[in-house]
Amino acid sequence: MELDVCIKGRRSVRAYTDEPVSKAQIETVLESGTWAPTGMHREPWKFIVIEDKKLIKYVSDETKLLVQQMMPPLAKQFTTEADIVCYNAPTLILVCTEKDPQWENINLLDSVLAAQNMFLKAYELGLGTCYMGFVNFLSHKPDALKKIGVPENCTMAVPFILGHPKTKQGSGKRSKPNILKWIK
Ligand SMILES: Cc1cc2nc3c(=O)[nH]c(=O)nc-3n(C[C@H](O)[C@H](O)[C@H](O)COP(=O)(O)O)c2cc1C
Repeated sequence: MELDVCIKGRRSVRAYTDEPVSKAQIETVLESGTWAPTGMHREPWKFIVIEDKKLIKYVSDETKLLVQQMMPPLAKQFTTEADIVCYNAPTLILVCTEKDPQWENINLLDSVLAAQNMFLKAYELGLGTCYMGFVNFLSHKPDALKKIGVPENCTMAVPFILGHPKTKQGSGKRSKPNILKWIK
């Protein structure tokens, strides 16, 4: 796939079929993440792959409760039974890094760059992804982190879902680059 087609064609997917993603495809996606730029070549990322439907539902349910408590303007929206967090995706991937105050910022940036690589690779493979910002609320709940396999010495940096999209990914829209200055 041409790079430009991949960059502009990828969309956040919020409806998935029940078909599981193959192990080989998950491994290919993870491997693509590891080719991202990484500060001081530390490659701090560690991955947790969750395919257990009950555990993914647990993540969605706990996240909904935390959003209700911590973001009052969204509380009503997050009382629904529907899975408006992980969208019934068959796979949830957590990009984690070891806790280290000195490297906290770099570790987060590395994880985000790795995630974008994975989003693009997944799209090339015909798969869908969506960054799960709300799932980060679980970082406030050590019990939940333990249950989903995040070790105590690690931070969950980027959670995202992966699966076979139910429908073709639509076209996106972006504003023109906002160039503040171009100094020659
Ligand atoms: C940091 C970050 C957090 C996000 N969190 C969520 C989320 O919790 N739930 C969700 O449905 N989409 C989430 N998204 C996806 C954005 O809504 C999406 O990227 C944006 O609307 C642009 O659409 P596109 O990805 O299809 O181009 C998140 C994206 C980013 C970058």
